[in-house]
Amino acid sequence: MADILDDDSTVIQRILDHIDNNTTDVLDEIWREPVANYTLPERYQDELTKVMRRTATPFCPSAAIPEPGCYVARDAAQTPLVAVRGQDGVARVFFNACRHRGAKIVADGVGRRGTFTCRYHAWTYGLDGQLRGLPHEYGFPCLDKGDHGLVPVKTTERNGLVYVTQHGDAEPDPAIPDFFGPEWRLIDVTGDVINANWKVVIEGILEGYHIRSTHAETFYPRQFDNLTLIQPFGRNTRMTFPYRNIERFRNVPAAERRVSGVLSHVYHLFPNTAVSTFPTHQSLTIFEPLAIDRTLMVGYQLCDRKEGSEEFKAVQAGRDFVLAGVKEDGEVQASIQSGLKTPANDVLTFGLFEGGIMRFHKHVAAALSELD
Ligand code: FES
Ligand SMILES: [Fe+2]
Repeated sequence: MADILDDDSTVIQRILDHIDNNTTDVLDEIWREPVANYTLPERYQDELTKVMRRTATPFCPSAAIPEPGCYVARDAAQTPLVAVRGQDGVARVFFNACRHRGAKIVADGVGRRGTFTCRYHAWTYGLDGQLRGLPHEYGFPCLDKGDHGLVPVKTTERNGLVYVTQHGDAEPDPAIPDFFGPEWRLIDVTGDVINANWKVVIEGILEGYHIRSTHAETFYPRQFDNLTLIQPFGRNTRMTFPYRNIERFRNVPAAERRVSGVLSHVYHLFPNTAVSTFPTHQSLTIFEPLAIDRTLMVGYQLCDRKEGSEEFKAVQAGRDFVLAGVKEDGEVQASIQSGLKTPANDVLTFGLFEGGIMRFHKHVAAALSELD
């Protein structure tokens, strides 16, 4: 049975209790992760091929491709893909590789097209992936055009997210909540490169133990240090980071307590995605490995407010605030990656309140061992 996530009033009461008792959520064991799991090339390749490409992972929000012809092209698990909405309204994802000699049929980015024409020799594909035409066709007398369309990737669009499964037939985890209804619009796409292994970067969202020391002037003035809720759902974990203004609910009846504006939920979607909630907006972040020691954080920022309004300005300010904290995390994570090259640690040790990280590593190991 799917795990049920706590409702707003339960979440707020649990946080107020932690404040009163000076406690935080803990899981039941410490975890030791071998440093080799961040540095061995074979392990890294297995994580790409056996974990990421075999899981249904969010590729982009539906709001990134709202109309027919809208596309998003980028690498996922080091494989070039393009997601496009067809004339029939269906979201499809293809390998971004021309069926002539393999060039990308569209450069990475976001845009809108009626067809895709490969830059190299101008083979042209429809939004449904079919090969429509090619210049000087007499040079390919036996070519079956019907057999030379773009190669599709298993695609599932559900609850405002477009998922891809590159290998196998895995479906999106039914435990994943409905984050983005039709009112959510894309306001920005960010791309930040961090010089650290993808798992080091993800560890940064799975604990609140570093809020005071790393985010002294950004998050800490508004948030608590080491006060998080850890809630598993499927292979995923919801981390909850309360704000100090949650105190205002002390005298509010439980049924009237709402989490909006008093905390951030960060939903880690196994293996390499997160949805984060903020007072002004929500974001979908995809942690894309570029190399064993480099990670691109692709950030889709979405809001449900009207552009040009005062509220929308608050969205932009809120997004800038969050990105300042992300920069601080990136600096620390790059320093961890340097530290992994030293003989200082054979294992990294995670404490009881870093249990979200333990779950993550256990599920990576389990996914790898299933295929051994
Ligand atoms: S490689 Fe695309 S048309 Fe030749
Ligand atoms: Fe952080």
